[in-house]
Amino acid sequence: MGRQVKIFDTTLRDGEQAPGCSMNLNEKLEVARRLELLRVDVIEAGFAVSSPGDFESVSAIAEKIRNCTVASLARCVEKDIDTAYDALKKAVSPRIHVFIATSPLHMEYKLRMSPEQVIENAAQSVKYARRLCSDIEFSAEDASRSDPEFLVRVIDAAVKNGASVINIPDTVGYATPHEMRELIEFLRNRVPDSDRVEFSVHCHNDLGMATANSLAGVAGGAVQIECSVNGLGERAGNAPLEEVVMAIKTRPELYDAAINIDTANIYKASKLVYNIIGRTAPINKPIVGPNAFAHEAGIHQHGVLANRSTYEIMTPESIGINKGHMVLGKHSGRHAFETRLTELGFELSSADLDICFAKFKELSDKKKDITDKDIEALANNIQPPESEDDYTLVNFSVQSGNFTTAIAVITLRRGDEVTQEVTLGDGPVDASYKAIDKIINPPAHSFDTYIIHSVSEGKDSLGEVLITLRYADRIFNGKGLSTDIIEASILSYINAQNKLMAYKNTHQSQELQESE
Ligand code: KIV
Ligand code: ZN
Repeated sequence: MGRQVKIFDTTLRDGEQAPGCSMNLNEKLEVARRLELLRVDVIEAGFAVSSPGDFESVSAIAEKIRNCTVASLARCVEKDIDTAYDALKKAVSPRIHVFIATSPLHMEYKLRMSPEQVIENAAQSVKYARRLCSDIEFSAEDASRSDPEFLVRVIDAAVKNGASVINIPDTVGYATPHEMRELIEFLRNRVPDSDRVEFSVHCHNDLGMATANSLAGVAGGAVQIECSVNGLGERAGNAPLEEVVMAIKTRPELYDAAINIDTANIYKASKLVYNIIGRTAPINKPIVGPNAFAHEAGIHQHGVLANRSTYEIMTPESIGINKGHMVLGKHSGRHAFETRLTELGFELSSADLDICFAKFKELSDKKKDITDKDIEALANNIQPPESEDDYTLVNFSVQSGNFTTAIAVITLRRGDEVTQEVTLGDGPVDASYKAIDKIINPPAHSFDTYIIHSVSEGKDSLGEVLITLRYADRIFNGKGLSTDIIEASILSYINAQNKLMAYKNTHQSQELQESE
């Protein structure tokens, strides 16, 4: 392999800042841990100055992650850089990622700065950051719509002042692959001492070209790709990690590049991220979508049976999909269960293992064959109450039919307090949600999505319900898993309401403190 191409993952920054993709601290830590197992080179953990929550999650990830560089974004402003540095203090390998816009449009209308001021600001900020941290990445926001000659001057200033990585974003997904390759080649040729720094690309997917543009950047000499799991990111998202990685792995003769990623963890990372944001992969999504390895047409099936390469350019196993592997049942013990979890790439704490094993036992009473998909769903759905204030389901009973009004009786526990409510509703889910609302008494919020799908095949399959609620311009996701879809719906709603209430309570107490 000729060179090493690094994978810089921005799921927790560009991805998490996209509408509907916000995550709480525990969820971010879970994703970061999964990214570490995936062996990404850099985790962009957040934009530390943007909120106390972001600061807290960058700090926590910096402390926990030992095998990746952890980066925080910062504008070319001293306060941003100081805050990023503070948040990254405990990282084994910290990186401050400073950025400033360089296109005429952004400089005039967003920054209200002259080109000379932008160069000066970039130079001073990189210098300031470099005094705090040895690894500085500089991004020229909206680079693909910037004057290339001007870019040479800004980047020269960043390099002279100590940046070691120069990132070229196609911020609005405007570039074509040909342009992206030419731009990287041009900058590598024209920026003085360009061989002392690493060039990186950060492509958005507005015209569906983020993967192609990232790969074209690599062909032009970039050695870092910024991407995100499932392509989450602003608007149409960033280049999907799974696509750029599998493209390089599948066509080694084209890219002649080595990457560190353990591709067998791709599917799990994708599942986890979708699960956390309360979505599922679109049916035709490359690499991780339900149809990515499905061969329906007879002629295709025939070809694949004769030789898999006829219609498969990569195997499901290479991204960690274990097709329908049947493993455990009613008589399987804890040891066998734990071994299978480890084989599937899960590392659970002993408390989580207890919860998961209890769920497995419950499931094996209801379902004869427990597949890997069931085990993965159980492991991805462990939800120990996060605080004393969280509600948990004690029991429920629902009656409904097409000639009666649905009625739900729901009992929830919160700490030592057990509360029961009975309500009527338009169907069993509506009645249950109304009863839960009566107990929790949440603030006015809207219901964004309700997704129900079966985890594996068969009538006795586990059903998973993913919902999203909107409150105070934020999205709160909930997930629930059960062989009973009403129970899965209830669990999912309680999960989302716990997050919403936790957010409301912390924000109310912060506002109170501020007003005192
Ligand atoms: O899209 C973009 O330009 C960015 C930068 C901050 C790197 O996300
Ligand atoms: Zn971006």
